[in-house]
Amino acid sequence: MNLQNEIYDLIIDSPGRINIIGEHTDYNNGFVLPTAIDKKIRFKFRKNNSLNICNVHSANFNTSFSFDLKAVKPSTQQWENYILGVIHEIQILSNNLSGFDCVLDSDIPVGSGISSSAALECGVAFGLNELFNLGLSKLTIVEIGQRAEHNYVGTKCGIMDQFASVMSKEGHVILLDCQSLDFEYVPIKIEPYKIVLLNTNVSHNLASGEYNIRRKQCEDGVRIIKKKYPKVNSLRDVSPEMLAEFKMDLDALVFNRCSYVVNEKVRVLETVEALKKNKLDLVGQNMYKTHEGLSKLYEVSCPELDFLVDYSKKFIEVIGARVMGGGFGGCTINIVHKDFMEQFINRASKVYFEKFNIKLTAFEAMPSGGTSIVNQ
Ligand code: GLA
Repeated sequence: MNLQNEIYDLIIDSPGRINIIGEHTDYNNGFVLPTAIDKKIRFKFRKNNSLNICNVHSANFNTSFSFDLKAVKPSTQQWENYILGVIHEIQILSNNLSGFDCVLDSDIPVGSGISSSAALECGVAFGLNELFNLGLSKLTIVEIGQRAEHNYVGTKCGIMDQFASVMSKEGHVILLDCQSLDFEYVPIKIEPYKIVLLNTNVSHNLASGEYNIRRKQCEDGVRIIKKKYPKVNSLRDVSPEMLAEFKMDLDALVFNRCSYVVNEKVRVLETVEALKKNKLDLVGQNMYKTHEGLSKLYEVSCPELDFLVDYSKKFIEVIGARVMGGGFGGCTINIVHKDFMEQFINRASKVYFEKFNIKLTAFEAMPSGGTSIVNQ
């Protein structure tokens, strides 16, 4: 059966996300400032009248797989794990799933730091919640996505990507407190500037392992700080001044990792105030500081990303730029004057190709709403 040519009852759009600032802070219980964008995965779902057999087709990979709801287990195909992981997590909470067909088609570039993974996880959870009336809240859908990534994919991610994909509101960013999960929608009015993503089109596949190592290094730091300050449970509870007391006690690498995180936490709050007061220069300066920290202290950048961020500094029309997302490749996020956008993209593409022999892809990101049903 060609799943693509069938008729479907339910269509869901699940978006990728950007993050203005607050990188690698989510799993340290800090703050982030993300929003969904106008790049998405479109899912079509229908019940297929079988008790347990599910069929999924990816138009992008032009491949399908089937599984039995009674025997869900991790696959050797990593992309299938994003889906199977969600099924596994839903089955812990509900017995109401039965056989379904699903077709998905994405315009989110994979490995670009825009979190196609969260879009995939949350789109599946959101769609099945609708199709089978599971009664899951949006927050539960977010948490199902995150747990799928931990338990089936193996990345011990924070909650930012899934939260942004599901909860975003058009024209706003979300100031999310990753400790309490309290959040505030902040209008993103940056006229005459635009948000431009430059995709390096490299994805150094160290990424997942290195991500988990960063998380562990932060936890190692907390364990030592806690000996003196028992109330400290995460780097959220540590100020830059407090951390300075531990320069001698912490391994140099661990100290650098922690130092980046505790300063980034302060920067997010400063940046959101600047955004509210329309002090866009400060927003941009903080983005550059974040990049510096991610590159030198947290060490999740790479030559391609550093090159693009450095290049952006040549132009007064670009007020801020940095690596976005987990790092080791993917996109830089740039705040660029609208009249300079086209020229910036053309010039960056040219120098990038000359330097790395790789084609840059670039696009404007529009802050958009979260996962939703498409009305036909
Ligand atoms: C990835 C993870 C997020 C977050 C970012 C870095 O996108 O999925 O949870 O940690 O990296 O900020």
